[in-house]
Amino acid sequence: MMRKGIWQEFDGYEEIAGEIENSLWAAGERSFDKVLAARYIQRLHPRQLKLRVVDVIQETPSTRTLRLTPVDAALPPFLAGQYIPLYLTIGGIRTSRPYSISSQPRQTGFYDITVRRVPDGLASNYLMDDVKIGNLLESAGPQGNFYFNPLFHDDHMVCIAGGSGITPFMSMIREIVECGLDRTVTLLYGNRQLDDVIFHDELERIAARFDNITYIPVIEKPAEGYRGACGYINAALLKEMLGDLQGKTFFLCGPQGLYDFCLPELESLGIERRKIRKEMYGPPGDICSYPGWPEEIAAEDRFTVTLKDGRTVSARAGVPLLVSLEKKGIVPSSICRSGECSMCRVKVLSGKVFQPAGTPVRRSDTRYGYVHSCVSYPLEDLEIMI
Ligand code: FES
Repeated sequence: MMRKGIWQEFDGYEEIAGEIENSLWAAGERSFDKVLAARYIQRLHPRQLKLRVVDVIQETPSTRTLRLTPVDAALPPFLAGQYIPLYLTIGGIRTSRPYSISSQPRQTGFYDITVRRVPDGLASNYLMDDVKIGNLLESAGPQGNFYFNPLFHDDHMVCIAGGSGITPFMSMIREIVECGLDRTVTLLYGNRQLDDVIFHDELERIAARFDNITYIPVIEKPAEGYRGACGYINAALLKEMLGDLQGKTFFLCGPQGLYDFCLPELESLGIERRKIRKEMYGPPGDICSYPGWPEEIAAEDRFTVTLKDGRTVSARAGVPLLVSLEKKGIVPSSICRSGECSMCRVKVLSGKVFQPAGTPVRRSDTRYGYVHSCVSYPLEDLEIMI
């Protein structure tokens, strides 16, 4: 298919486009197999997916589930643990957010996404307050690597969740119990208060009914008299609840604080790194406290970002470059917003950015100055190319 453009207005465009298409077929650049393959790829990984909100379920005072059905095509399949990006326009700002699918993948009629309100969160407040049944949302095919792989992972999954990090695990657990999969889950789910726990009743029901699912809510600040596990998900609690740590794979999903706390605890128990899977969860909360952040730069410091076409953006050091660009109406592609997918990469022509160690940037990208703008923070005035 030829790309649409202004030249479509020219006399004879259709004929010329047809001739080019025919010669590509003749030259073997188009073949039935390639067309078929492209159709399959489009079906499995559509670049655009229109979804309609058909139900809104209030899970807790600060959390709601949006049930989404397809508008004009079947829903692409996904693996429990994957997410979809939502493309949103909020107050004139075009942005995106990834949301894990919390429904289970063997039913193909809808996706559930479960959203928790984040104080000052542009997208979460919009999805909590403004989105209603009947609204349309833009998305793309499911993405992500946070799923159970029977070739590499033990059949006993230890799932460690914090806050809205429960969503991929709900999809996994629902699939296991609804499809009778031969897999064991021990879920440790940390929240500040019992009222914050999402899916609490359902998880209790599942754990009571299925021997292979254990559910342990861990409450940081419980009400007086609470008799369940309290405090944090630490090494002592893991040892007490799990006993033998062999033959188990650990899956973590939650805010940065969960990783900062739990990863050293797992390490102290001698869990090998290859036995730990960690879901991305957006950019770091407080980049200035990140190892390697230059002390002399404060989060509020401002720098000028100049694009190759001359447009300029005033960007705060403590805000991801992608966000500063979006606020100015400049919208690089983005999917994961966690540094993983590389969709948001921009080329830094001059100036310096901070990118957390371990951001998976391709070696060739590093060599030619590309950074992932969703996890890059300006440390100087920048010149960039998108
Ligand atoms: S949006 Fe995926 S790396 Fe930035």
